[in-house]
Amino acid sequence: MKLLSRNVYVFFFLSITVILGTQAQESNTKQKAVLVTGASSGIGLKITEDLSAKGYFVYAGARKQADLNRLNAMENVQSIKLDVTKWDDINAAVETIIKEGRGLYGLVNNAGVAIFTPLIEVEEDDLDFIFDVNIYGPYRVTKAFAPMIIESKGRITTVSSISGVLSGQFFGPYSMSKHAMEAYTDALAVEMKKFDVHVSAIEPGNYNSKIVESLIKRMESNDISFTNSLYKTEFENLINGYGADRSRFKDPSEVSDAVEKALFSDSPKRRYMVVPNESEGNWTITQILREMVQLNENQAYKYDREALIEILDKVLAETE
Ligand SMILES: NC(=O)c1ccc[n+]([C@@H]2O[C@H](COP(=O)([O-])OP(=O)(O)OC[C@H]3O[C@@H](n4cnc5c(N)ncnc54)[C@H](OP(=O)(O)O)[C@@H]3O)[C@@H](O)[C@H]2O)c1
Repeated sequence: MKLLSRNVYVFFFLSITVILGTQAQESNTKQKAVLVTGASSGIGLKITEDLSAKGYFVYAGARKQADLNRLNAMENVQSIKLDVTKWDDINAAVETIIKEGRGLYGLVNNAGVAIFTPLIEVEEDDLDFIFDVNIYGPYRVTKAFAPMIIESKGRITTVSSISGVLSGQFFGPYSMSKHAMEAYTDALAVEMKKFDVHVSAIEPGNYNSKIVESLIKRMESNDISFTNSLYKTEFENLINGYGADRSRFKDPSEVSDAVEKALFSDSPKRRYMVVPNESEGNWTITQILREMVQLNENQAYKYDREALIEILDKVLAETE
């Protein structure tokens, strides 16, 4: 009798262990996993905090050990050393994520940098720097993780900007990189459709982050100054007006909400413009319409106002 009850106990213990083991494995594969690049601060950190708090598993890309440690301490987060300009980091990240066995459902190409420089003075090295991170970065990371995203019929989201539509004094290099992200997103979206992978762009206006602080730090450490610039006064006004401290801008929760919709809603949109006030939305929509008018102005098959409205109605119907 004693032997029987001991056997029953052993059987019960083993069964529980197997059930728990299977459940752990299942939750490993069921908990949708997302990779966020540039998760150390600003928008990327907010996305990481929000998605992990909602129970998604976040692989949070960062470059500095202190950031990796900080992110790793968060629940549902595993930090991944990831400089988007380095193939070694990217390949190692792919290997790590494959080994973890959760698959990868979502990729958020968020890492980005800015420079403010007049186009007739910008150094080629500075253009290389911004394009390497803002354009080649998403290209590299997306290419490397595409097989995993295709396997999970997942989602790819690029954090572009309203600078993907707007441009202006000293914003040339930054807005060139974000305009490129718009084209990248549209082409990628068409190419990924046959794999049931949806691609979206998020277009934030001005939100609180470290983007200008990092820009000013880089200018200081690379000895970039505008003492001899043809635009010295305008540049000083811009930097004084902007300042490194962006705490006057809103926290980027709205941007993170849009990323969640792009990743997990049943009918994700191609573009999510997220602006902190009406003016920034107005500049952006007006610029798009201005470009439409400029394109139409002198073309051989020019549309009149009624025909333009008809086209607008057609496009509105497509997106409903
Ligand atoms: N904040 C805004 O108002 C705003 C508006 C429109 C669009 N955006 C876009 O939002 C994205 C995030 O920027 P943010 O405003 O949140 O600025 P942020 O606080 O400066 O964050 C930028 C992130 O990118 C990372 N990063 C920079 N170079 C990298 C590289 N080579 N490899 C991997 N990561 C790198 C940074 O990491 P380190 O800490 O290691 O430097 C940081 O985690 C950018 O694409 C930006 O263009 C921002």
